[in-house]
Amino acid sequence: MFTKKNIFYFFIFLSLLSETRLQAESNHKIAVIGTGYVGLVAGACLADFGHIVMCCDIDTKKIEMLNEGHLPIYEIGLQEIVDRNFQEKRLIFTSNIPEAIRLCDSVFICVGTPSDDAGKADLRAIYAACKTIGENINGPKVIFVRSTVPPGTVKKLTEIIQLNYQGNEEVIVAFTPEFLREGVSVKDFCHPERVVIGTHSEAAKKTFCEIFHKQYSKNIPFLLTSIESAETIKYASNAFLAVKVSFINEMSNFCDLSGADIVEVAAGMGLDSRIGSQFLKPGPGYGGSCFPKDTLAILNEANVLGVDLKVIQGAVDANEAQMSIVMNKLRRLLQEPLQGKTIAILGLAFKSNTDDVRYSPALKLINSLILEGAKIKAYDPEAMKNTEKQYPEITYTSSWKEAAQNADAMVLTTDWEEFFTIDLPELYQLMKAPFVLDTRNIFSPEELKQEGFIFDNMGHQKR
Ligand code: UDX
Repeated sequence: MFTKKNIFYFFIFLSLLSETRLQAESNHKIAVIGTGYVGLVAGACLADFGHIVMCCDIDTKKIEMLNEGHLPIYEIGLQEIVDRNFQEKRLIFTSNIPEAIRLCDSVFICVGTPSDDAGKADLRAIYAACKTIGENINGPKVIFVRSTVPPGTVKKLTEIIQLNYQGNEEVIVAFTPEFLREGVSVKDFCHPERVVIGTHSEAAKKTFCEIFHKQYSKNIPFLLTSIESAETIKYASNAFLAVKVSFINEMSNFCDLSGADIVEVAAGMGLDSRIGSQFLKPGPGYGGSCFPKDTLAILNEANVLGVDLKVIQGAVDANEAQMSIVMNKLRRLLQEPLQGKTIAILGLAFKSNTDDVRYSPALKLINSLILEGAKIKAYDPEAMKNTEKQYPEITYTSSWKEAAQNADAMVLTTDWEEFFTIDLPELYQLMKAPFVLDTRNIFSPEELKQEGFIFDNMGHQKR
């Protein structure tokens, strides 16, 4: 809810915004630290807005690769933007982070904050980046933190920068969370649904307005908050979405036994605008670089503060349990031990349109199948290289057909578009036995039945 103070800030921000629109032609020199999914997309898009962007990373191999024109990640539309801005010399890749900081007037911090063994956000990379920033500040600069960090962290980061800075000027650090979904992150960056900026600094607001002036003309809602609120908005948003996915997964398990169809149930729920129709697709559990780590991190923070977040804990527990539900479905389908069986896995990425396999349910499945002595043939349009780094022992194929050939069962784990067009009669011919487990509900139960498959899915009608 808006407090009077926030509404006041919001109006100051709006007036700044129109001022900026009038004089928004000045381009900025921006250093982006971290060239992962968040940093590379931010850097490329900011260069596309007309700024000079130095994308930096301590990983020299990554920088070499980028300078040779190759992207270290698969992200729709990114290659084209990187190529264009690299050629036009607005986008520079370097591992000389100190120099980039010295040459630029703003710094975006986009380094990873993965979970440590206890589920806590590992802040070592961001602390190191801030130390380097402090050591190299040579004039007025605004630092924007984009990495997801627990509430209170940006305050600590400001202290680290200040401690390592030799000058007298005030160090300005703001928190601007990213809400990018992998696979559509270029679109999300250029046309966000909302922009949140946590700062009380006029200079940070002004710089932010200037940098993002292209977006301002598109009536995107902006919310100005305290730094701590902005930090919490990011965690709360991801945790809420994780709760929604776990909720629908549990409802699909309920439908499996109650005789209802989750697709119909989700359609009926989604028509209520208070609920909304998105994030109501059941599956093998949520994965990726954000939901698993951010839910654990906020639980950890709550634990330190002595607050009980039962709903988020429930979502995490349900997500943990979802793979055993998938495995039980597979065991029930085959009605035989999985030992020695060849299982085709279609989809390795944690969701479609990405090569990211971090916390991917498909990898949990591979792990469980290996433990039970099954043989695995896997196919994914983009994520096989990343999976192979962790599971070199399984067979990777160049098409879904090759994966299905002579398989005792097929498990579909990622809803890639190409799997929607699988020819079921052909699939039936290719497989040794007609067992299909569709964990994303992409196949029509009627058609599977008609073709003679013995199948299961996630709470979707089987009549
Ligand atoms: C998420 C947030 O959406 C984004 O705002 C944030 O900045 C980063 O984390 P991302 O991890 O790219 O983005 O994926 P998202 O599309 O949100 O999906 C997350 C997980 O939930 C995936 O494993 C996906 O398969 C699963 N999911 C999502 C479902 O199982 N069902 C759904 O209906 C929606």
